[in-house]
Amino acid sequence: MQKLVIRGEKRLCGEIAVQGAKNSALALLAACVLCSGEVVLKNCPALSDVFAACRILNRLGCKSRYLDHCAYVDAGGMSECAVPEDMMRQMRSSIVFLGAVLGRKGQCELSYPGGCELGPRPIDMHLSALSQMGVKINEEYGVLCCECPKGLHGARINLDFPSVGATENIMLAAALAKGETVITNAAREPEIADLGDFLNCCGARVSGQGTSTIVISGVDKLHGCEYEVMPDRIAAATYMSAAAITGGELDLKNARAEHLGAVIPVFEQMGCRVFSYDDRIYIAGKQPLKAVKTIRTMPFPAFPTDAQAVVMAALTKAKGTSVVVENIFSSRYRHVDELVRMGADIKTEGKVAVIEGVERLYGARVRAADLRGGAALVLAGLAAQGETEVENLCYIDRGYESIEKYLRNVGADVCRMTS
Ligand code: EPZ
Repeated sequence: MQKLVIRGEKRLCGEIAVQGAKNSALALLAACVLCSGEVVLKNCPALSDVFAACRILNRLGCKSRYLDHCAYVDAGGMSECAVPEDMMRQMRSSIVFLGAVLGRKGQCELSYPGGCELGPRPIDMHLSALSQMGVKINEEYGVLCCECPKGLHGARINLDFPSVGATENIMLAAALAKGETVITNAAREPEIADLGDFLNCCGARVSGQGTSTIVISGVDKLHGCEYEVMPDRIAAATYMSAAAITGGELDLKNARAEHLGAVIPVFEQMGCRVFSYDDRIYIAGKQPLKAVKTIRTMPFPAFPTDAQAVVMAALTKAKGTSVVVENIFSSRYRHVDELVRMGADIKTEGKVAVIEGVERLYGARVRAADLRGGAALVLAGLAAQGETEVENLCYIDRGYESIEKYLRNVGADVCRMTS
């Protein structure tokens, strides 16, 4: 098992080139299954989840390889329709292969996905939508056997909740389906817009991506293309919080302010100075930080659930009382107990967390329990007095590329060790 050892109280200063977006790259890799020619995905982040998606592609008979932040995928020789359970369990986003494999082959067999322990991760909306498109779904012992005897056809699908994964699965299944599919109450996250733009780059006919209503007119075939993955808005929010909690100054390249419309004001309420221009965001933390009255996580364009933990880390040192309401996942406070071990004053009750700012955090041995909660512990370690060890680095490596290198380059005292 690997861990990070951090010696805190170092003010971060410098420039970070933010990685490509994990939650876009994973959907785009699945979408490659639909393409009959080679796809080159540029700005693809070097993450364990990306490598897991490439392994699934190879298991399906596609040829995928990764080199220098580029993923090369040729699905021309795709020969399989089943994803083994061990591969499905490696990450939540594996479920998005369902729509892509059905779109390409008309059948698919896979088990329920794994992913971070954020609470129940049902896929009822995915399955209900695919059924409306002609998919027959049999579930036996946790394995989903899906087929569409008469082929996939378009449908008008209204989502009860703007689910990111369900929206992606429908788009992927609809790209080569017969007729038109209309998704209402679709997810509006930037990663959805990136997926729609990618599909169009391959010859699909998608419109409305990034809005609540997406229309996909099925085509006969998709060709390959060269496409650049969008920047990772949650990684950007994470590094913004690193500047805030250490009172540092960071200039983030490849960070789009329009993707962080609900996050930037929170850092400004904390007293940080934030400037954005082109694809750059500059942030200067100002000590002491000020508490933020209430943060409610909701679907885009509201405050993203994925930024909740990393912003909470900064709030632990913000003067006053901050309140966070986590509305998306039922168990996304697993970082709280670990932050409390470092001296934070946080109380949770159901969806609500109340954070009383403290003067100082103290280094401790803490354990990551999920991706973003693990990142929050790293941020707290940057500001803590003394040495912090963050264990279970495997969670963090799922979503952050070489986090210790990025932080060391801007002045952090952090190294990766095998425990
Ligand atoms: C995506 O997960 C992201 N993952 C998550 O990021 C992100 O937190 C989430 O969207 C919300 O923005 C990837 O893109 C790989 P949802 P997803 O479907 O698609 C419920 C990270 O840290 N729901 O929008 O699983 C679900 O239980 C990860 O990078 C159903 O009830 O999210 C949850 O409460 C964590 N039935 C809510 O909707 C369904 O069929 C949002 O889920 C589907 C979802």
